[in-house]
Amino acid sequence: PRPAVLVARAIFPEVLDKLRQHFEVSDNEHDEDWSAQELIARLQGKAGVLTTGSQRIDAALLQACPQLRIVANMAVGFNNFDVAAMTEAGVVGTNTPDVLTETTADFGFALLLAAARRVTESEHFLRAGRWDRWAYDLFAGQDVHGSTLGILGMGRIGQGIALRGAHGFGMRVIYHNRSRLDPAIEAQCRATYVSKEALLRQADHLVLVLPYTPENHHLIGAAELALMKPTATLVNIARGGIVDDAALAHALRERRIAAAGLDVFEGEPRVHPDLLTVPNVVLTPHIASATRATRLAMAHLAADNLIAFLTQGRALTPVNAPPRLRVAR
Ligand code: GLV
Ligand code: GLV
Repeated sequence: PRPAVLVARAIFPEVLDKLRQHFEVSDNEHDEDWSAQELIARLQGKAGVLTTGSQRIDAALLQACPQLRIVANMAVGFNNFDVAAMTEAGVVGTNTPDVLTETTADFGFALLLAAARRVTESEHFLRAGRWDRWAYDLFAGQDVHGSTLGILGMGRIGQGIALRGAHGFGMRVIYHNRSRLDPAIEAQCRATYVSKEALLRQADHLVLVLPYTPENHHLIGAAELALMKPTATLVNIARGGIVDDAALAHALRERRIAAAGLDVFEGEPRVHPDLLTVPNVVLTPHIASATRATRLAMAHLAADNLIAFLTQGRALTPVNAPPRLRVAR
């Protein structure tokens, strides 16, 4: 019999069709919000699941779903996975690197420009009918070109931001990362490695592009925000929880920093109420990878991971390598 897989959220019909060529496919046609218990119930008998980052894959689920062998996340981040528990259980996890790098880097710049140049704040003012005359300092913001771009987390997306900043906007690029980049890549990105403290102190615009891990929880809190320039902008396209949202809202209100652009939030889709009331922040609903072409490529890559693993035994973009895999049964 063909393996059975579950697609946990609504996705592109053409990707479901592709999966149906290989598997018995159950899907979530009406894109319902399943509880952990409902997800476990629907996973019974399934060898694979396509997830989106909103389904938590932990030891309890793995134990309750003994036939599950692969979890293919349609996201580059995989903080919804308990990777250690998956590896221990012999379950492979996959993500969708590379296909979203350029699209996501573009959006980092969209938020950076919008925050620094006060694009959405001024649009609200205009829509509210409050624009009655020119003024010398009307929505005067901060320059992007020629400024110092700080990047925290220098993976593929961070490098994409660096390239745009250095080559497109003539920015001086500084970065901090767990490990230094290869000198050839540093040269290509025109990026200089600095300490985290130097990054916070020197950046005119700071972009966060690092994965969420428990060690990164509230990596940017009141103490870090206090090191930043009062004219600085902060952009988070990484994950909620890396920034202490309450502390950030406070810093924005007090003008400790000039502005922020946020695509991700602690506890999203809820947004800290204080962020909703400060004017100098641009807020978007986790859409950095959301172009039609890129979301389609992500869905295809997640599906291709299920197909490659369940039909040929080898995932394309695994995030773990369990020494002993669960066997089909
Ligand atoms: C989106 O946040 C992703 O991880 O792809
Ligand atoms: C993270 O994995 C990235 O691609 O930057």
